[in-house]
Amino acid sequence: MASVNNLLLIICFTFIFSPCISAASDSKGFSTNLFHIHSPSSPYKNAKAESLAEDTALKSTLSRHAYIRARQQKALQPADFVPPPPIPDRDMFLANLSIGNPPTNVYVVLDTGSDLFWIQCEPCNVCYKQKDPIYNRTKSYSYTEMTCDDSLCLSLGREGQCSDSGSCRYECAYADGSRTSGLLSYDKVAFTSHYSTEDKTAQVGFGCGLQNLNIITGYRDGGVLGLGPGQVSLVSQLSSIGKVSKSFAYCFGNVSDPNAGGFLVFGDDTYLNGDMTPMVIAEFYYINLLGIGLGLGEPRLDINSSSFERKPDGSGGVIIDSGSTLSVFVPEVYEVVRNAVVDKLRKGYNISPLEQTPNCFIGKIGRDLEFFPTMVLYLESTGILNDEWSIFLQRYDDLFCLGFTRGYGLNIIGTLAQQSYKFGFNLEQNTLSIESKPNCR
Ligand SMILES: *[C@@H]1O[C@H](CO)[C@@H](O)[C@H](O)[C@H]1NC(C)=O
Ligand SMILES: *[C@@H]1O[C@H](CO)[C@@H](O)[C@H](O)[C@H]1NC(C)=O
Ligand SMILES: *[C@@H]1O[C@H](CO)[C@@H](O)[C@H](O)[C@H]1NC(C)=O
Ligand SMILES: *[C@@H]1O[C@H](CO)[C@@H](O)[C@H](O)[C@H]1NC(C)=O
Repeated sequence: MASVNNLLLIICFTFIFSPCISAASDSKGFSTNLFHIHSPSSPYKNAKAESLAEDTALKSTLSRHAYIRARQQKALQPADFVPPPPIPDRDMFLANLSIGNPPTNVYVVLDTGSDLFWIQCEPCNVCYKQKDPIYNRTKSYSYTEMTCDDSLCLSLGREGQCSDSGSCRYECAYADGSRTSGLLSYDKVAFTSHYSTEDKTAQVGFGCGLQNLNIITGYRDGGVLGLGPGQVSLVSQLSSIGKVSKSFAYCFGNVSDPNAGGFLVFGDDTYLNGDMTPMVIAEFYYINLLGIGLGLGEPRLDINSSSFERKPDGSGGVIIDSGSTLSVFVPEVYEVVRNAVVDKLRKGYNISPLEQTPNCFIGKIGRDLEFFPTMVLYLESTGILNDEWSIFLQRYDDLFCLGFTRGYGLNIIGTLAQQSYKFGFNLEQNTLSIESKPNCR
């Protein structure tokens, strides 16, 4: 397992140059169900527990944090990067799409931190082990390669070299040796609609991964579904071909429950209910966190709100991210929040931090933390309420740990804090709508 520090530096090139995008249609309701990676129907259900000794949630969150900061600092090139490969041995939700004609199911991770939708693609030079069948482009009648002058290819923004045959190539290499490269291509993607029995389809551009090396684990999910604001992202593509308005929403059910579901919806059927808070879109989705409280009706914790502000140089701020399990707070915020939580545990529950791993505690969340004070994330015009299942994460049978960690220079609201809420990202109005306790099914 590569260490977190040397993970991450990515070098990515796009070799560019265009078929026309398919004509607009009036169909609406592009959506799909999400399933828990350990659900009974998941091909990854037995993937758990290969590395219990490691805190994979913490590790993957920190590598994610480092990756996003590197992007913020422009140490990495934008748009065509994919995030560090998620570690499958953790609780998360995958989207179920199908691609091609005849269709192949693909299970992909949602990633609001990158734009490209890529999957492993046969015949490949190098593919890593994947639990479900790999998409075979030569079998699909609707597959076409993107040419180098395609606007999507150009949107990835680098001068490039084309392949000898004039097709658009992409390449992403991670410092730890993981990489994916291949051809930007078009094929028909079907959304197994969450709201109706009718599948919606669109011809979309995606990365057809021909050389995929994943040295972190032997296998993983089949790809990444980028939900960032860039032109190549699925939400931008579906809106630019007139299929949907430029918005999407997702809802993760109970992360600790393998039977929980969720959904991902694009465009008009997003039904953006709930309170709205402004969102700043700059590669990532930034929100205005104003303060944090522990206990409804309690005064806010003593935190200087400048710790949450995005600096003029683009650093800092608070992003909402679908690819981090834990939340991350800058050190001065982390200390205050952690101290408040530990204080409640000591006084109300007689639970103290472990000496060697001071972010962890002996006990069971369900059994030992009844009526734990609600954590409130105060946002502009609204807020997010977190109960004990979002403040903590059960790691082993009898050990639970904080659901947030510390990291310099950037705050992240992770999926643990997002569970059981529906988040609607409106990329036209720059708002995030937050609906509490929706039915995520
Ligand atoms: C994904 O969707 C397909 C087609 O609707 C279905 O057959 C399959 O069982 C689903 N997979 C999971 C893991 O839910
Ligand atoms: C992909 O499909 C082609 C055409 O049917 C077939 O010849 C080839 O063996 C398939 N490749 C893999 C790796 O399944
Ligand atoms: C989430 O799932 C866990 C594990 O199944 C369960 O014990 C807990 O009650 C659930 N939390 C909520 C809020 O439903
Ligand atoms: C908050 O932090 C900023 C920047 O570090 C500082 O200028 C300001 O004085 C602080 N405000 C308070 C009330 O401590």
